[in-house]
Amino acid sequence: MKLTLRVWRQTGPSEKGRMVEYQVDDISPDASFLEMLDVLNERLITEGEEPIAFDHDCREGICGMCSLVINGTPHGPEKATTTCQLHMRKFKDGEVIDVEPWRARAFPVVKDLVVDRSAFDKIIQAGGYITAPTGTAPEAHSVPVPKPDADFAFQAAECIGCGACVAACPNGSGMLFTAAKVTHLGLMPQGQPERYSRVVDMLNAHDDAGFGGCTNTGECTAACPKEIPQDVISRLNRDFLSATVGSKKK
Ligand code: SF4
Ligand code: FES
Repeated sequence: MKLTLRVWRQTGPSEKGRMVEYQVDDISPDASFLEMLDVLNERLITEGEEPIAFDHDCREGICGMCSLVINGTPHGPEKATTTCQLHMRKFKDGEVIDVEPWRARAFPVVKDLVVDRSAFDKIIQAGGYITAPTGTAPEAHSVPVPKPDADFAFQAAECIGCGACVAACPNGSGMLFTAAKVTHLGLMPQGQPERYSRVVDMLNAHDDAGFGGCTNTGECTAACPKEIPQDVISRLNRDFLSATVGSKKK
């Protein structure tokens, strides 16, 4: 395949960025999007130019590091797929492809296509630990968990923390991510002792980090490679109301 790439290049957080055009050819349709960028970077290095910085780690769709806006869509055109699992056969030979970083106030650009997602770490840290007794592991079936709760908790726990939900949201909100974490901990028996203080602490950290508010546009769920449903946000809202004005207010 022969492609024209228009890639966001930015030398540092406070430098001005711009789109730079590159031609790539001899790209296998079976190459992943990141492998295609590797080919371009090898050429740039050979030519003495600065390679394009982009984040990646597992390249298996599980770590959440890859983070590219491809033709205006976080993680590109294939639904429920991370950038690293996207293959070039999803594009047409000769296509022009725009490649940009996540764009959100809470995720400042570090360099080129790399953004700082430590704001997510602050939300996780605010969630704290769960109260769990130490000692021998309890017998597996001694704490029964209703099947629907277990299934929903597992679904929420599939969030890989990539940030595509933030990049897709017109408000730059991190609510889908925060709600996924609140939900998977708040549904399990082990997560009950801190359930209501946790939701307040995590939401405060979310707002302090500069994320926008949620207005239920649903762009987050549409962009999420793990298809985390908006129901988690409803659940977060219910727990937050209970913790602040309802029966769980301290
Ligand atoms: S909710 Fe989805 S899009 Fe958002 S961080 Fe988690 S996996 Fe990524
Ligand atoms: S590199 Fe790990 S999810 Fe894409």
